[in-house]
Amino acid sequence: MIKQSLIREILEGYPLPRLGVHGVGHWGRVLENGLRLSEETGAKKEVVALFSVFHDARRENEDTDPGHGRRGADLARRLRAEHMALSDEDFDLLVTACVHHTDGRTKGDVTVQTCWDADRLDLWRVLIVPDEAYLCTSAAKDESMQEWARPRSLSEHVPSFVREEWLVGLDELEA
Ligand SMILES: [Fe+2]
Ligand SMILES: [Fe+2]
Repeated sequence: MIKQSLIREILEGYPLPRLGVHGVGHWGRVLENGLRLSEETGAKKEVVALFSVFHDARRENEDTDPGHGRRGADLARRLRAEHMALSDEDFDLLVTACVHHTDGRTKGDVTVQTCWDADRLDLWRVLIVPDEAYLCTSAAKDESMQEWARPRSLSEHVPSFVREEWLVGLDELEA
């Protein structure tokens, strides 16, 4: 779903530790959260997957970093022709999800809502309990979903595809 060639392009300009708190482990968990939520919400999985790797892709620090969502969306725009086969409508959803992911909004298209919830269900890693008021979908508020996501976030679990597919051959460049 997310090819290594895309990950390589994204990581080329990623200035923070690859396995840091906003790095590839987080992207992988957001991807898995998002796909799981999509089963319930009916979100467009390709958009959710692309959100997971772009939304924090152009952070410049691990703190608040205003504007990083927009920078991630700008990167997606630059890589679109070569790496994405999204309709204009779906690409707009990706941009909206990236640009506004830190605004605390909860209203919007269900695909955008699913992206935001996928990210917010990985807040435990920074010792923040996801606030129900900022979760958009009933799927994300569901106790069993949270029980699944919480330990993965707290332990900063790195999904196997991150090392076995995304980072293969990149070890020598690892920050
Ligand atoms: Fe972010
Ligand atoms: Fe994030």
